[in-house]
Amino acid sequence: MRAAGRQAAWAAGGGLLLALACLALDPEQKCNRTQYEAHGKCCSRCPPGQRVSVPCSNDSDTACASCRPQHFQNGWTKQTVCTPHRYCDQNAGLVVHIQGSAEQNVVCRCRNGTHCSSRECQSCRENKVCQEGEGAQQTATDTTDTVCAECPVGFFSNISSATASCQPWSSCWAAGLVHKTDGTRSTDVVCEEAHRSRSLALALVPLAAVIVVLGGLGLLLWRRRLHRRELQKQQKNQPAEDDFEEDKGCPALPVQETLPMTQEAEGKDSRLAEQEHA
Ligand SMILES: *[C@@H]1O[C@H](CO)[C@@H](O)[C@H](O)[C@H]1NC(C)=O
Ligand SMILES: *[C@@H]1O[C@H](CO)[C@@H](O)[C@H](O)[C@H]1NC(C)=O
Ligand SMILES: *[C@@H]1O[C@H](CO)[C@@H](O)[C@H](O)[C@H]1NC(C)=O
Ligand SMILES: *[C@@H]1O[C@H](CO)[C@@H](O)[C@H](O)[C@H]1NC(C)=O
Repeated sequence: MRAAGRQAAWAAGGGLLLALACLALDPEQKCNRTQYEAHGKCCSRCPPGQRVSVPCSNDSDTACASCRPQHFQNGWTKQTVCTPHRYCDQNAGLVVHIQGSAEQNVVCRCRNGTHCSSRECQSCRENKVCQEGEGAQQTATDTTDTVCAECPVGFFSNISSATASCQPWSSCWAAGLVHKTDGTRSTDVVCEEAHRSRSLALALVPLAAVIVVLGGLGLLLWRRRLHRRELQKQQKNQPAEDDFEEDKGCPALPVQETLPMTQEAEGKDSRLAEQEHA
């Protein structure tokens, strides 16, 4: 508290000294910002929207007057003239953005489809148009140009435009259609009526049914025939099979006789031989 008080005292003292020094050097400093020094005294300045019409004299204060049309004055002035409004040059592509007043200047901007070609905006430039396959990532403002970007996969743009963004490819499935042609950056997916393939499918269903039925029938017939043939074979082959066993047995016997034999086989053979002899 005491430190702050001392600081404030110092600041006040310093300020006073500075003010006195300034008064000694520049007499206008004793006047505030709405005044000016003339004839050894403070004369009034003219407020926004006005100008000095008669400067102050020894025995009279400043006389002010309104700015003329198309002119403005936005401060406290000792000037005798106001400033003309800015002219928005249509040939340069400029249009009035904010109407002027006695206190404010006109604000110009570039007309639709163009943007300022410089910070000062003395002229305008046409906004860049994005080509097919590109979309406007950022549309132009009155001070900035269009920013174009290539359409990402799954998106397309089939028009040159300064404002259009890339559109997503159509979904044939969602539309109840079928995919015909792939999409590109500049063309949409092409869909077609599911008609053709659906009618094809509808034609295939009975065809498939017929095939299945015929196949089943064929199988049934084939199995029945097989069964019947087997029965015939069984009836016919019963004796034939016995003959075959005998045929196989007969030539084997002499071969077996030449081989070395076990006691049992010898006995059996001798028995067989006995049987044959008998
Ligand atoms: C300036 O001084 C004049 C006359 O003393 C007074 O009427 C006016 O309010 C002052 N203006 C400011 C901003 O101090
Ligand atoms: C204004 O006053 C100054 C001194 O205060 C004097 O020299 C000057 O002649 C006077 N002018 C008029 C027009 O009265
Ligand atoms: C300028 O463009 C904006 C937005 O596209 C539109 O609303 C406005 O009507 C246009 N003005 C003119 C003069 O074309
Ligand atoms: C752009 O694509 C859309 C959607 O496929 C289509 O309707 C339109 O006719 C196309 N426009 C041009 C100019 O190709």
